Amino acid sequence: MDWGKQNRMARILRPENGRGVWLAVDHGYFLGPTRKLEEPRKTIEPLLPYCEALFVTRGVLRTSVDPNTSTPIVLRVSGGSSVVGKDLADEGVTTSIREAIRLNATAVGLSIFVGSEYESQTLKNLANLVNEAEEFGLPVLAVTAVGKELEKRDARFLSLSCRIAAELGATVVKTYHCEGFEKVVAGCPVPIVIAGGPKMETELQVFEITYNAVQNGASGVDMGRNIWQNDSPLGMIKGIRAIVHENATTKQALEIYNSVKSGKLLPTGSETLWDLIQKQLKGFGFQLRQTKYGPISVFYDDKRILRIWLRKRFVSVKTDVPVKTGWTAIQDEKEMTKILDPVLKRLAKS
Ligand code: R5P
Repeated sequence: MDWGKQNRMARILRPENGRGVWLAVDHGYFLGPTRKLEEPRKTIEPLLPYCEALFVTRGVLRTSVDPNTSTPIVLRVSGGSSVVGKDLADEGVTTSIREAIRLNATAVGLSIFVGSEYESQTLKNLANLVNEAEEFGLPVLAVTAVGKELEKRDARFLSLSCRIAAELGATVVKTYHCEGFEKVVAGCPVPIVIAGGPKMETELQVFEITYNAVQNGASGVDMGRNIWQNDSPLGMIKGIRAIVHENATTKQALEIYNSVKSGKLLPTGSETLWDLIQKQLKGFGFQLRQTKYGPISVFYDDKRILRIWLRKRFVSVKTDVPVKTGWTAIQDEKEMTKILDPVLKRLAKS
């Protein structure tokens, strides 16, 4: 793979585990202002720090996403049909590669509709897009769309669609989880991410399909409605992140979801201090950094501001802990609880 394309892929599927959590917010391109995506900026902003990529159209990108973001963009470049029109499958390529590059997209994505009246048209859209994107080292995401025929989502159909997408040159394929999903993965020589589809009844169902998909070889998710149509979008994305990046179980993901939704801390057990802190922070998008000061380094200043160095940034929080100036390592569970409680509460709400 060319350096540029490989580098772009490494931004959207983490090189250390080959996985990614992408947030899909492109639905308006055929659904209009669908529920909880009426004002895209409000939906996107709180979730942006928790995804490896945002799947979005150029219109929403320009109007509703902060250009200072460091989150990579997978730009949806197909469209031309609507939910009230004659056929959702009648799509063309709506956005040029030149425009994708102008927008600093990390990858481009479009839908293919295998088995539909527009099968050939959408497959040729993909092939032509790959031809153009390859010139610039832009990865191409192919979405194996089913339109309104959700019942089409079985292993036979999805295997066929995914394989065709890969054969035509897609760099990544987005499909649905299904019974026998491992066969879909086995027959597709490029990474697969899964969509969530319409909102499911329970959070556990969403965590289960995510868990099963990842266990069966998926590289992550490109999910929308089951995150942002939930009452706690942050809880959902943090639970999903834990499954995708930390190999958390569905039960652990649900615990994270509930703790975020309620603003309460996770229950603690008898783990070591290090395990305990790791567990508490799992799913919040933070990892502890081992430093010479100990497993977790804290810095107090004379304004009773506690700063904890986590992998990505300092977290600052006001604390009632007696003032000590300088770096220190947390020594025991009691001390950790006292110090971390306000931090975790804050993270849970953020
Ligand atoms: C559908 O074609 C849209 O492009 C969405 O990106 C996709 O379906 C994923 O979103 P959801 O998880 O809501 O199905």
